[in-house]
Amino acid sequence: MKNKFKLIATAAMGLESLVAKEVKDLGYDCTVDNGKVIFYGDALAICRANLWLRTADRIKVVVGEFKATTFDQLFEQTKALPWGDYLPEDAEFPVIGKSVKSQLSSVPDCQAIVKKAVVNKIKQHYNIQSDWLDEKGAVYKIEVAILKDNVQLTIDASGIGLHKRGYRADQGEAPLKETLAAALVMLTNWTPDKPFADPFCGSGTIAIEAALIGQNIAPGFNRDFVSEDWHWIGDALWERARQEVEEKANYDQPLDISGYDIDHRMISIAKENAFEAGLGELISFKQMQVSDFTTKKEYGVIVGNPPYGERLGERPEVEKMYRGMGKALKELDTWSIYILTSHEGFESFFGRKATKKRKLFNGFIKTDYYQYWGKRPPRNI
Ligand SMILES: C[S@@+](CC[C@H](N)C(=O)[O-])C[C@H]1O[C@@H](n2cnc3c(N)ncnc32)[C@H](O)[C@@H]1O
Repeated sequence: MKNKFKLIATAAMGLESLVAKEVKDLGYDCTVDNGKVIFYGDALAICRANLWLRTADRIKVVVGEFKATTFDQLFEQTKALPWGDYLPEDAEFPVIGKSVKSQLSSVPDCQAIVKKAVVNKIKQHYNIQSDWLDEKGAVYKIEVAILKDNVQLTIDASGIGLHKRGYRADQGEAPLKETLAAALVMLTNWTPDKPFADPFCGSGTIAIEAALIGQNIAPGFNRDFVSEDWHWIGDALWERARQEVEEKANYDQPLDISGYDIDHRMISIAKENAFEAGLGELISFKQMQVSDFTTKKEYGVIVGNPPYGERLGERPEVEKMYRGMGKALKELDTWSIYILTSHEGFESFFGRKATKKRKLFNGFIKTDYYQYWGKRPPRNI
């Protein structure tokens, strides 16, 4: 087995630069493309990337890349790849696919051809005589992705998407993906010594992600990954990576993180989720409406994902609520405030122009992240 792999961390549109920063912080050089960050690493890098990347969607291992404009070329070049190095004799290997602006445009046909080519190669590699393969072993989900006739074959090393951290027992109506919640926190100037509040906490995602960041707890500490069953990574490497996670966590870091919501049912869910994450004692959740937000603390950070008023009839109520929020937060001139919404008139209802805006997608909804930077603390604070 080789000891250097080409790896991809997939990213939601607009989050590529954050994923790239995370990959670099893990110690791997990388390049950025649309929706992905490409880096090279050994098998341990696969474990680390899965465990540590807060804003990536999943980790994939690139098996091969080539140009193909006919099914013959797709079959032969797929078969020529060293599948036996990756897949054991009993591997379960479903094939998914996508094709964009390519001559091979029928995705089901491409999937079937890749499947047939890999079956052929595996039978040859392991000298299997029977007609079909058992596929009762570990899962190696193959993806054939074709863009402008360039084929890329990858194996998914994450399994369930990385946004599933394993702590969300329950959720509200419009929960944020954990990856986006982490991104929202990482885009602020928050450091763990400052107060942090989410006035629209819903199921608690932003506050929980902030606490994980604040104590440098790996987001994947609480879940499994499909590549934990891969023989060529093995238990010892995964144990080492999990050991690193324990060593790097800073459980002694005090935190001042609060979440509020107008809906008391959401507060119960948020508390439950925080306990599930092992952070129950660290985050304070209380029922409160945003117009009542007040604090004597200074130099804190607010991150909020309020209702957007997307549905007909909700707008006037949401706009009134934005006004109330603007009034309540007006005096907090040392606090930095970050609000994600798709409502284009947000600044006028909130009553202030943002210091900076950043375009982000919340699922398929185009949003802006409105950033209001607070006063800087005097040098001796
Ligand atoms: C889009 S959801 C937030 C979802 C949350 N980020 C999560 O991941 O679960 C908006 C939340 O704002 C709450 N909300 C609506 N109006 C509010 C108000 N005036 N004050 C405080 N919270 C409010 C809703 O109850 C809802 O839970």
